[in-house]
Amino acid sequence: MRVLVTGAAGFIGSALADRLLDDGHEVLGVDDLSTGSLANLREAGSRPAFSFTRLDIRDPALTGVADDFGPDVVCHLAAQISVRESVADPVRDARLNVEGTVAVLEAARLSGARKVVHTSSVAVYGRPSELPVGADSPFEPRSPYAASKLSGEVYLRTYQALYGLDSTTLVLANVYGPRQSPNGEAGVVAIFTDSLLKGAPTVVYGDGSQTRDYVHVTDVVDAFARACGNAGTGGRFNIGTGRQTTDRELHTLVASAVGAPDDPGFAAARLGDLPAMAVDPAPALDGLGWEPRTGLVDGLKATVEWARSS
Ligand SMILES: NC(=O)c1ccc[n+]([C@@H]2O[C@H](COP(=O)([O-])OP(=O)(O)OC[C@H]3O[C@@H](n4cnc5c(N)ncnc54)[C@H](O)[C@@H]3O)[C@@H](O)[C@H]2O)c1
Repeated sequence: MRVLVTGAAGFIGSALADRLLDDGHEVLGVDDLSTGSLANLREAGSRPAFSFTRLDIRDPALTGVADDFGPDVVCHLAAQISVRESVADPVRDARLNVEGTVAVLEAARLSGARKVVHTSSVAVYGRPSELPVGADSPFEPRSPYAASKLSGEVYLRTYQALYGLDSTTLVLANVYGPRQSPNGEAGVVAIFTDSLLKGAPTVVYGDGSQTRDYVHVTDVVDAFARACGNAGTGGRFNIGTGRQTTDRELHTLVASAVGAPDDPGFAAARLGDLPAMAVDPAPALDGLGWEPRTGLVDGLKATVEWARSS
């Protein structure tokens, strides 16, 4: 199969490129390297079935690039991923995440792709009244980022209705693992790991009771690989473990994996932070045959080992 991956130089996109190449597919990565890095593609780049084009997905040249490659499937991961930046500059967020997604859908249909696999976020659920979030939980986007991700999902439905372009949406919980950047506001595992390895102070915002559902990147790219086939066509699936981990518990687990003191500082909760999140993975087992396999302790151990050696 020929798969075009947008955002291929990023944390999840590069892991997906590696996985698809392992599965014997041909992969074209497209990325403007705005937050991604060619270093993430070192493994993929050494393989003949991989090619890379540095391009902003909104550049009209994307259509020609996709047409030349002739993808069977387009996996769309390129995005502005910061909730805070989306609040600070919602117009830029919409340009990247809404206009960018429409540009990718246009390129997909014009190049004759069979299917698009889109990346959404649990941010679309806002503050859910019940946890774990089920398949038909109501949407409550509380940030421009959440609104832009949801808008991508709506555009997929429009392209199915207009052109019969098949799609699957994967709604990701908090993804962690090797290659996640510690420099953003998200990626608390990467932030704690980086600081604890350097012996630098760590900060927990609020009283440490805020929860998240941490899913390992290896499991996440397995969901993408399954969606690239015929599984889950027309569906949207929450990709998480169903388990809540508090910020304080996470700090303890990362400190233990690093072998560092478990002694974070505390700061005031940040405006807009959501109190709790976990998603029910059961529908993804039915629809994609997917389930999370990496436990948090093992996943953190592997992440710390990678950070130590990189
Ligand atoms: N990391 C998470 O926990 C998480 C959770 C939910 C959803 N997601 C979604 O997963 C996807 C990948 O996120 P990630 O964590 O790997 O982030 P990332 O920043 O590492 O990857 C995004 C990639 O997109 C590229 N990019 C950004 N704008 C572009 C543009 N206009 N044209 C071409 N390339 C562009 C960046 O250079 C980067 O390589 C995103 O769509 C994000 O919204 C991530």
